[in-house]
Amino acid sequence: MNKNLKGIILAGGKGTRFRPLTTAVNKHLLPLYDKPMVFAPISMLMLMGIREILVVTNPQDVEPFKSLLGTGERFGTKIEFAIQEEPTGLPDALLEGEHFLNGDPCAMILGDNIFHGRDLGLLLQSYNQNSGATIFTYEVDDPTEYGVATYDPSGCITGLVEKPQNPDSNWAVVGLYVLDSRAVEFCKGIKSSSRGETEMVDLLNKYLAEGTLESVKLPRGITWLDMGTPENLLQASEYLRLIDMRQRLKVAVLEEIAWRSGWISLAELRSAAKYFKNSQYGDYLADLCNDA
Ligand code: G1P
Repeated sequence: MNKNLKGIILAGGKGTRFRPLTTAVNKHLLPLYDKPMVFAPISMLMLMGIREILVVTNPQDVEPFKSLLGTGERFGTKIEFAIQEEPTGLPDALLEGEHFLNGDPCAMILGDNIFHGRDLGLLLQSYNQNSGATIFTYEVDDPTEYGVATYDPSGCITGLVEKPQNPDSNWAVVGLYVLDSRAVEFCKGIKSSSRGETEMVDLLNKYLAEGTLESVKLPRGITWLDMGTPENLLQASEYLRLIDMRQRLKVAVLEEIAWRSGWISLAELRSAAKYFKNSQYGDYLADLCNDA
């Protein structure tokens, strides 16, 4: 594990596909079953062993995020915030992380992506970017809403296209990118696309062109869902609810991950359970304490 790998969560944007839900509320604060959506990407970074996290969001949304997450200390992390004035694309948002990164590599995750699967954090920890970039792809039925990767017969990535109408493969690029310390500099040279935003594939194509882009196909048994529409968010909520009802296991409980990682004590877990009492989330934390 690269000790310097920092985490960046992109949680800005207008959330137009969710209006009127997002007229007054940031999309990443909408309910993912029993918790705010942003807990999903935070938990993924934590499972990768990352404790220094920057949340990039809109000017008016910083305060609600601060109310929700505080300094991150409650769940064993250090959370900072940065503002993206206008939603001008993902590479532009990464530019807001320059100061936070201070020359370190990062794992950047989109605030509306959720990953689930045994030992996924461990799998991802092996990609820790001293030079180049790593992306992860996932085979989907319809990749037209995503970045799409193509591979040669030996499995090497050959191309990347954003939201192609006629995709050449079914391998969607998921919203988690491990980037070396040059990413911010690369972002500075990226121009807006025809849809008026800087595009992630333009950043990744810079790495591809110099031969330093690694693309890892996520194996069977890993779940990746994006929550970019109300329908997708409901599906993700149903997925978490199913696991909860069937196994009494909650996914993306930040205090649980922190405790299992040894970042907070049992006493701190207990006080979190108290803080959230009267909710399913709090009951779940209390059960963890009692079973410990
Ligand atoms: C973004 C990226 C796309 C990626 C997707 C994953 O698209 O641009 O390459 O496949 O996230 O969720 P967006 O959801 O911003 O349209």
